[in-house]
Amino acid sequence: VGTSLFAGPSPFPHPVTLDEGLPDLCALAPRGAPLRPVLVTQRGLDSLLAPAVDSLRDRFQGLEILTVPRGERHKTRAEKARLEDALLERGFDRDTLVLALGGGVLTDLAGFAAGTYLRGVPWVAIPSTLLAMVDASLGGKTGVNVPGGKNLVGLFHAPEGVFIGLSLLDTLPVREWRNGLAECLKHGLTSDGEYFDFVASTPLATFRRGGVPLRRLVETSVRLKGTVVAVDPLERTGARFLLNAGHTVGHALEALSGWKVTHGGAVASGLLCEAAAACAEGRLGRPELSRVRDALAFHRFEPHWDSYAPAQVLEAARGDKKNRSGSVRYVPLGAVGRPALPPPHTAELTLSALTGGLRLIQEDA
Ligand SMILES: NC(=O)c1ccc[n+]([C@@H]2O[C@H](COP(=O)([O-])OP(=O)(O)OC[C@H]3O[C@@H](n4cnc5c(N)ncnc54)[C@H](O)[C@@H]3O)[C@@H](O)[C@H]2O)c1
Ligand SMILES: [Zn+2]
Repeated sequence: VGTSLFAGPSPFPHPVTLDEGLPDLCALAPRGAPLRPVLVTQRGLDSLLAPAVDSLRDRFQGLEILTVPRGERHKTRAEKARLEDALLERGFDRDTLVLALGGGVLTDLAGFAAGTYLRGVPWVAIPSTLLAMVDASLGGKTGVNVPGGKNLVGLFHAPEGVFIGLSLLDTLPVREWRNGLAECLKHGLTSDGEYFDFVASTPLATFRRGGVPLRRLVETSVRLKGTVVAVDPLERTGARFLLNAGHTVGHALEALSGWKVTHGGAVASGLLCEAAAACAEGRLGRPELSRVRDALAFHRFEPHWDSYAPAQVLEAARGDKKNRSGSVRYVPLGAVGRPALPPPHTAELTLSALTGGLRLIQEDA
């Protein structure tokens, strides 16, 4: 039986199980009537993750499979519509159970489709990237990208469960591991200094070998995200903005590069720039800033900020949907493991703080 991550009630609006092998869906709570499952995954991923697909076929007799193309650029209304039409064509009714197997792009898209298909059918998330395990599949946010911006259309539609199987990561490319790692550093920086030091000093190769270090990585990050989601499940109070640490500058760097830098690379740089800004404002100590810098150096995250002037970065941050109502908000750190202000409070990222911060990083280098 899948190992529940939480002894008591889940802090998420759904349970989470974590197993070292394949995801174990035995814990899926039975419904009154039997459900008709459909596996939604990405083209190519079905063969790459054949052991997981086979085990789902064993679990659900006659399982049907629908695939969508891979890539963030396919997280669209058009792909969602195609998915819905395919479900209708095959006669999927209100008894549908969507099994979403993939990274965050797939779980966002399939979860959203499940949320509106016949006004909502149940779904489960089976995350297959580190980022999806520790971030994207958790908390019930689903959606697609639209011409006006990323993730601007979607639903809160909690899955019946998030089923993590660490062996799915065996085929994950290093670049994708690093995307997840940056989010783990974020969780540590904002919520747990000891965990931050653990992530900051453990080589990626160690995590990739699996076992205890990987388990600790995923389990702790899930728990830390849970603590945040529990107090603001529907993103109403602003407390969930803590999960946006590093992303104010990170998104700006992604946009400035024309989305050429990876999300993880941009977030890692963003974490350092934002820590530096907090340091320039006297909220974070210099030695703590050095710990952040050392973590990035240890994992060889590139310093993407040094290609741009601070004013350019700030201007790009203003383009982000979260900052359209005037000032650019960010999460200033008070220490490694703690924000300077208790959530939901944030601070304005001023040009002088960012400029001063970037100067501090350069002095340190
Ligand atoms: N809903 C939320 O709360 C939330 C939070 C954070 C991020 N997100 C979203 O998550 C998305 C990013 O997710 P991601 O980083 O998982 O990207 P992704 O889903 O694009 O996956 C990255 C790549 O890895 C491939 N892949 C997936 N699993 C694999 C495996 N086990 N082995 C080999 N290859 C595999 C995918 O096909 C893809 O090519 C973004 O769209 C972002 O907006 C959502
Ligand atoms: Zn992110």
